[in-house]
Amino acid sequence: MQIHNLTLDYFRNYLHLEAAFDPSVNVIYGDNAQGKTNLLEAIAYLSGVSHRSRYDRELIQFGVDRAFLRGEVESRERSFVLEAELHRGRGRTLKSNGVRLKSAAELSGIFQSVLFCPEDLTLIRAGAAERRRFLDECICQLRPRYAQALSEYKRLQEHKTRILRDSEDKPSLLDALDEFSLGMAKAGAVLIHYRAHFIRRLQETAPAIHADFSGSRETLSLRYETVSTVTDPMAPPREILPALLAHQEAHRAAEIASRTCLTGPHKDDLAVELSGQCARTYASQGQTRTAALSLKLSAREIFQADTGEYPVLLLDDVLSELDKRRQEFVLNRIRGGQTFITCCEDDRLSSLLKGKVFHIRGGAIV
Ligand SMILES: Nc1ncnc2c1ncn2[C@@H]1O[C@H](COP(=O)(O)OP(=O)(O)O)[C@@H](O)[C@H]1O
Ligand SMILES: [Mg+2]
Repeated sequence: MQIHNLTLDYFRNYLHLEAAFDPSVNVIYGDNAQGKTNLLEAIAYLSGVSHRSRYDRELIQFGVDRAFLRGEVESRERSFVLEAELHRGRGRTLKSNGVRLKSAAELSGIFQSVLFCPEDLTLIRAGAAERRRFLDECICQLRPRYAQALSEYKRLQEHKTRILRDSEDKPSLLDALDEFSLGMAKAGAVLIHYRAHFIRRLQETAPAIHADFSGSRETLSLRYETVSTVTDPMAPPREILPALLAHQEAHRAAEIASRTCLTGPHKDDLAVELSGQCARTYASQGQTRTAALSLKLSAREIFQADTGEYPVLLLDDVLSELDKRRQEFVLNRIRGGQTFITCCEDDRLSSLLKGKVFHIRGGAIV
């Protein structure tokens, strides 16, 4: 899988950009705040992922009303022209080969990317929300049904939270509570099912990568933590549903009393252990970074196993954060797919890496 070229108009700080990429390594270097991350963000956007912003309007250049992205990609031995037109104040238009797409999930169905940024290195030490985001970003790209269930779940959760919050002043709002809880349980059962299956695949791939990485000094293990009444998260969603409803029922009074959503997979976590001990609590910074890299690299392998091709890998400022040994490990591990690597002008990484080099300054290639 690869992106041959990219055209941007009014995207972030790019007035207009046309770039043709190398099929293997692309090095993007420049000073801070020049547009390196923005370029990777544009590529990720064409793969259906918005990791940096929740709203399209943030992507449109200040003072302008629309932005345009276009990329020619190759996937499963076919060529696609992917286009996105973003508007301030109304919905975006996504197209593949001129045909309108219904959702970003359809972009992900064609073109996939795995992004790696310095914040990911704290994945293990961060709160559960970061690990859920990691799971969501991966599974959304692989399974359109998951992406659909996730946005449904989030929509219902926001609504239910508002009901709970405002019910003190307006108790009649609680009449609708059970309806929203039921909807959340239905969508939540789908989330749990897919998360369990994805984590199973992480369990199959990440420990070997981590062993390699750590010179077999430590063993990585992963565990899915979800709603306590769910005994088999791998089961089909319809079998998970009754367990979620039972948990909701048991917490109904507490939710009303605390005015917050207490039950559901929005509290899930991916527990990471190193040699049998909770990594978040006991492991050193270096160990948790290595474990985070192992998880990310195994996500890339899972994508490859799923689609038959490596996703495009976006390494944003991550290599310069690593010591030499970890840098080499990552660079050796990522062969075989197209990679974009950003780095700062002065960290000399750009001269070490072989590939097509782009120097970015002020939202343009110089
Ligand atoms: N919507 C926008 N319109 C114009 N400029 C933007 C927009 N969003 C971000 N920027 C600018 O992009 C620059 C940051 O670019 P970024 O790609 O993050 O830099 P870096 O090269 O350090 O990765 C900042 O100067 C910021 O002001
Ligand atoms: Mg950056």
